[in-house]
Amino acid sequence: MSTLLHPEITTEKDFLPLNGTDHVEFYVANARQAAYFYRLGFGMRLVAYAGPETGVRDRASYVLEQGKIRFVLTTPLRPDGEIAEHVRIHGDGVRDVALWVDDARQAWKETTRRGARSVQEPFEIKDEYGRVRVASIAAYGDTIHTFVERGAYRGAFLPGFRAMPEDRLARPTGLRYIDHMVGNVGWNEMNRWVDFYETTMGFSLYQHFDDKDISTEYSALMSKVMANGNGRVKFPINEPAEGRKKSQIEEYLEFYHGPGVQHIAMVTDDILYTVAKLEEQGVAFLTVPHTYYTEMEGRVGKIDEPVEELEKLGILVDRDDEGYMLQIFTKPVEDRPTLFFEIIQRKGSRSFGKGNFKALFEAIEREQAARGNL
Ligand code: FE2
Repeated sequence: MSTLLHPEITTEKDFLPLNGTDHVEFYVANARQAAYFYRLGFGMRLVAYAGPETGVRDRASYVLEQGKIRFVLTTPLRPDGEIAEHVRIHGDGVRDVALWVDDARQAWKETTRRGARSVQEPFEIKDEYGRVRVASIAAYGDTIHTFVERGAYRGAFLPGFRAMPEDRLARPTGLRYIDHMVGNVGWNEMNRWVDFYETTMGFSLYQHFDDKDISTEYSALMSKVMANGNGRVKFPINEPAEGRKKSQIEEYLEFYHGPGVQHIAMVTDDILYTVAKLEEQGVAFLTVPHTYYTEMEGRVGKIDEPVEELEKLGILVDRDDEGYMLQIFTKPVEDRPTLFFEIIQRKGSRSFGKGNFKALFEAIEREQAARGNL
């Protein structure tokens, strides 16, 4: 059974107040080419850069933005070191889910005091545009959370980054901000990470789904959604559950070689426009069978969007007692079947599309089977 908890949103006694997601940093094998994909495919603008030309010797980083979404694509320039090792093991993937705070020292102190492993003690970086304080802690797998305290910093991204001229390659798609970011963890590890977010980061359980909610004939998974005090940051955590065949979470864990970020959900105010544009720009989505749409009105009732248009694009709809939501999932965005994206538009509903799980997982299983991994 799924439970919708929506704990009362309160900032009282929140020992880790978060303003939101600051950025998501990916370690990739070739950041220049990956940046091209996100600019022309997803419509992100290249706004800042750091690399050999700016005095950085071991890496190159491209900062991309659309709405409030900020991605940093970082590639190693040498065969040794932490970035090259991350790419060797995981392929392209998310290294850092960085969180925007008012006080990075305090965030680091409160979380490490409660058991988080420190990755980087608080330190300050400066340039002519001001100063920023950062500190990092470890999360699941090789994923980390960096606390970014920007204060009155006026530069393009972080000290040391160079602002880029207006991006004339980017083709915006109407993506606005991150709704949630999902982590896949190993067998029987979900509760351990739920406990981590609860105890060391002050998050609380927002919704949970068991293997009855999320199962098909072949495979199953369990999921708990954790949210921070003001509800701006939501991290669902998935673990595989026993099924007749290999679940998508197991496939991820095998190819990512451990726990990591499974998908990033990005919000649009006009999903028909956004998905049509993304598709035209080469982003590939999962599709569901025609019967999903013939049964849709009976399941979700009246909605504003014409069903034929939703079907043409493969957009899914789900309703709960607060309203409805529209969502669609891309295929994995790299050759390893690991990270993918979700595009979501909320019309009242604050849930995660439970009514779509079955259709969706069957679509994923068809892809798994095509890869020989089911
Ligand atoms: Fe999602």
